[in-house]
Amino acid sequence: MKVAKSIAQLRAWRKRRLGRVVFVPTMGALHAGHAALVRAARKLAGPGGTVVVSIFVNPIQFGPKEDFASYPRPLKNDLAVCRTAGADAVFVPSPQEMYFDDRSVFVDESLLSASLCGQSRPGHFRGVCTVVAKLFLIVQPTHALFGEKDWQQLAVLRRMVRDLNFPVEVAGHPTVRESDGLATSSRNVYLNPSERALASRIHAALLAGAGKKSPTTVESTASRLISAIPGARIDYVEAVHAETLQPLTSRKFPGRLAAAVFLGATRLIDNIPLPPTP
Ligand code: PAJ
Repeated sequence: MKVAKSIAQLRAWRKRRLGRVVFVPTMGALHAGHAALVRAARKLAGPGGTVVVSIFVNPIQFGPKEDFASYPRPLKNDLAVCRTAGADAVFVPSPQEMYFDDRSVFVDESLLSASLCGQSRPGHFRGVCTVVAKLFLIVQPTHALFGEKDWQQLAVLRRMVRDLNFPVEVAGHPTVRESDGLATSSRNVYLNPSERALASRIHAALLAGAGKKSPTTVESTASRLISAIPGARIDYVEAVHAETLQPLTSRKFPGRLAAAVFLGATRLIDNIPLPPTP
């Protein structure tokens, strides 16, 4: 497995690759969710194809009060996860390699980014779009895989690829969960044991909401159950249209029930499908 630390190294290695190049961008602290993405990438790449993973904690997608400095960076373990899951190359640039101090060009998706996480994390999706656009131009993948755990991110990036004509096919991968239903996340390590035990109730609340008929009852049911979790503070609980991310007006349309919840100091996000009902 090739480990490239510079853009020049990655580009030189990429040049010799023919056929499909399937790319999985990550911020490291790799867990079972990331490993599933890399295995799916291996499958999608096929026999002659290539799987590239990037590990880069992207400073410009973190707000000033967020966890950029403390975000876990267990590189040795991450490389082992990539190797086991079938990656051919891992791109691990430094912030200096990726960004000029006087950078002045960004990629801004202005519609889907405005709601949900965009409300409480201003500038977050601009940071995500900018880094993914740069990574696409460096890695030049034919395909890229993203997790449905970050549904809004997936929708925003699909829009970026569509509107800017990136020659990349984007695919989503279902959310990988712990045995109690909690969505696997690099941030779960921030939870203390009692918070960790309570965290599974977020997914349970979403499932209970999804059983209801009208989008309003879907939201109110999930909200009520999440509010009842000791120490939980709701950032948002919203039923939205799966593609436009606009408020869901009827269960005739494909929807998504999405939530962001603070458990103590840790912000957790999750979402589940709201399949259209006849
Ligand atoms: P990160 O949080 O490391 O996630 C990398 C990829 O793994 C994303 O596509 C995310 O949706 C997916 N993922 C995370 N947890 C998952 C789970 N439990 N099940 C399935 N997929 C999961 O998302 C980012 O990094 C960054 O914003 C990035 C796109 C790399 C840009 O910096």
